[in-house]
Amino acid sequence: MTVYLDWNATTPPLDEVLEVMQHVARECWANPASVHAWGRRARHEVEKARACVGERVGADPRDVVFTSGGTEANNLALRSAFSSQTGMLVTSRLEHPSVTRVAEALEREGRAKIHWLRVTPEGSLDLDELQQVLANSQVRLVTVQAVNHETGVVLPVQEVLRLAHTRGVAVHVDAVQALGRVEEFGQGADTLCVASHKLRGPKGIGALVVSPQARTRGLELSALLLGGSQERGLRPGTLDPVAASGFGVAAGRSAGGPDRYAKLLPVHEAFERSLAALGLEVNGKGTRAPHVTNVWVRSWEGVELAAALDLEGVCVSSGSACSAGTSELSPVLSAMHGPERARQSIRISMGETTTWAEMELALEVLDRVLHRNNL
Ligand SMILES: Cc1ncc(COP(=O)(O)O)c(C=O)c1O
Repeated sequence: MTVYLDWNATTPPLDEVLEVMQHVARECWANPASVHAWGRRARHEVEKARACVGERVGADPRDVVFTSGGTEANNLALRSAFSSQTGMLVTSRLEHPSVTRVAEALEREGRAKIHWLRVTPEGSLDLDELQQVLANSQVRLVTVQAVNHETGVVLPVQEVLRLAHTRGVAVHVDAVQALGRVEEFGQGADTLCVASHKLRGPKGIGALVVSPQARTRGLELSALLLGGSQERGLRPGTLDPVAASGFGVAAGRSAGGPDRYAKLLPVHEAFERSLAALGLEVNGKGTRAPHVTNVWVRSWEGVELAAALDLEGVCVSSGSACSAGTSELSPVLSAMHGPERARQSIRISMGETTTWAEMELALEVLDRVLHRNNL
């Protein structure tokens, strides 16, 4: 038996998602931009999906721009904010590389000055510092994630939105790890990024949702690529109706996600109590999503422990998925605790179907592998 505990990397697609995708692949496969009957059939599926995603995040479907996933949506939001005007971008090392690397590039290109907010050892942000930075009239955009991808720490997004909007500053929220898992995913953001594959939908599709208020705070989207006029010219290229249809179904079904994830709370608590009994310490404190445990394993390199657990049928990650397979240290854990602890940590992320029996098995294997190393 294999226990999958890497839901933050990606989630297993739902049967109903696969069913609709199979139907659309057979019957509605045409180019959704074509004006003929086949095109209209494909376009109908795309627009149905757009309506589902819009409804799920409380937006008008016209404000949903489909992208290839979270990475592209973050790139599109950040690059757009600094395409015609320079200024200051406020962010932190807690963000996914699809945010931090764009910030670094914008600075290199002379388009933005970056203010890196201090990361607390708990894995959160200092709102007093944010308030002080916002007094600087150069600040053009604050970008914050709703839930951290590595620790599951829930960031104070509503507070960030309130502080920034009071100053008339726009906020981009990366809701990739939050939507469908916790209630507050960044409602009220000027731009919001979501990814289908974290919601039990297909990979290769996500969205940037743009609020009508974004323009009043000086944000105007502009395409990253040159090409056709698909997605209102903001995302040229032929859209896949098959992926879109799966995303739409997954987004709709994710409305019940926070309740399903909340049911994991006792499992999560019991699991972490057992880890403490093994002498292991969790990374990240305060409000955390009920499905992620990032744990400091001290005597082990995280990469080696993840490989040893894999051999025993337990799939976890030693850092964010994008870094898997490389020896790059987790920037999030490094910012919280320094490089050594970052190197000695693994991420265990459950999902809505995870059972206590699976967690017991994972604990048994973890205990055995750690004990074996200490002999
Ligand atoms: C917080 C966060 N943002 C963005 C992304 C990138 O999303 P995608 O894999 O769809 O490009 C991820 C992926 O793990 C993520 O965890």
